[in-house]
Amino acid sequence: MKEETRRATRDYSLLSSTPWGIWNTLYSRRSLRRFEPTVVPDDFAVAFERFIEKATSIRNAPSNSIFPVLDEVKVSSISRAAQKGLGNKLNVWLPRTHPAGFLVMRTSKGDRNSERPRELPFVSMAGEDCILWLTENGYGTCWLGAINAEAVSRILGLGEAVDIPLMIVFGKPEEKVRTVSYDKFTLRTLSRKRKPLREIAFLEDMSNHFVPVDFPERAFESAEKQDIESLLESMDSGSKYNAPLSLLLEACFEAARISPSAANFQQSRFVGISSLDGLENVQEACKTDEKLDAAIVACGKGGRFDERMYERPFWMIDVPIAISHITLVAASMRIRVAVYIESIDESSLKKQIAAQDNLRVAGVVGFMFE
Ligand SMILES: Cc1cc2nc3c(=O)[nH]c(=O)nc-3n(C[C@H](O)[C@H](O)[C@H](O)COP(=O)(O)O)c2cc1C
Repeated sequence: MKEETRRATRDYSLLSSTPWGIWNTLYSRRSLRRFEPTVVPDDFAVAFERFIEKATSIRNAPSNSIFPVLDEVKVSSISRAAQKGLGNKLNVWLPRTHPAGFLVMRTSKGDRNSERPRELPFVSMAGEDCILWLTENGYGTCWLGAINAEAVSRILGLGEAVDIPLMIVFGKPEEKVRTVSYDKFTLRTLSRKRKPLREIAFLEDMSNHFVPVDFPERAFESAEKQDIESLLESMDSGSKYNAPLSLLLEACFEAARISPSAANFQQSRFVGISSLDGLENVQEACKTDEKLDAAIVACGKGGRFDERMYERPFWMIDVPIAISHITLVAASMRIRVAVYIESIDESSLKKQIAAQDNLRVAGVVGFMFE
């Protein structure tokens, strides 16, 4: 029997002696598909553009690879065009609601069909940062993968060399489905069911399922600032690490577990590495001189049915989305993090974690304790 749950693995807020606010944002986010008519205020649009620029730069996505569309006429044309074509009928709801705008992801044509996409993972990470920032600011969001890229591109006049692998729709949540609610109930529930931690998380290799252990209340002190922008900015600095390693790994696994995935397929898997031999191999495979104190190898299933149907390599989208969550939670625990995606030795990492053939390693998150 499929054992899935809407519940949080535990109440993480009890484990920090200071407010561990990122969980409010992570648990409040859910995909929304019904929006009330609204106009985005000018000062919000300016702040949003600034955040997008920051997220793309910190995540190493090509500059201008994510841009907002807020113009009312364009928004309604895109709503109609995006769901054209048989494969995109999943999104017939789009023209029936009132989005405030779209975030458009723009990559080079051919990137998503290459053996190992080079732009898509970075754009996906930054896109999820934007989703969390919008959540924090009271907007509802939904990733869109089943879209007619050509039709949208024509509306935006982007030209032949450009692809639109993904968009994010956002808007003011309809009153009865408002997203950001900080009450305990919302905190503990998820809009979609998820597999339990032990099914998606492992230690050292994939034969060893992760099992949560008990922690005392107030086991550590989380970072002072918990908003997405501050966390993004602090990812490569960190300060004195004061949580048990097992809590760091569990919090990162939980953040990955509740991240959105296409059709909620949840095909991403995460392997925590903390043994000396294991870390040595990871460092070598990531070609880094950085001394890692722990790492998470993040993988997804390649060659899936939905990948062929929607012509999108979801392992290089869903896993980077989860990596966005992992790195933000690590930063919320005052940990310095680095992400390795581009030049990793994938076959060495697969061998190390004993991954099945159809798993692809999308990236590695390295943790450094100061
Ligand atoms: C890469 C990606 C593509 C998605 N594409 C669509 C889409 O085209 N239409 C849609 O309604 N939802 C889409 N979703 C939303 C997922 O269905 C949703 O994230 C999943 O069911 C989990 O629910 P939650 O986000 O509420 O936690 C997409 C999600 C991701 C991550």
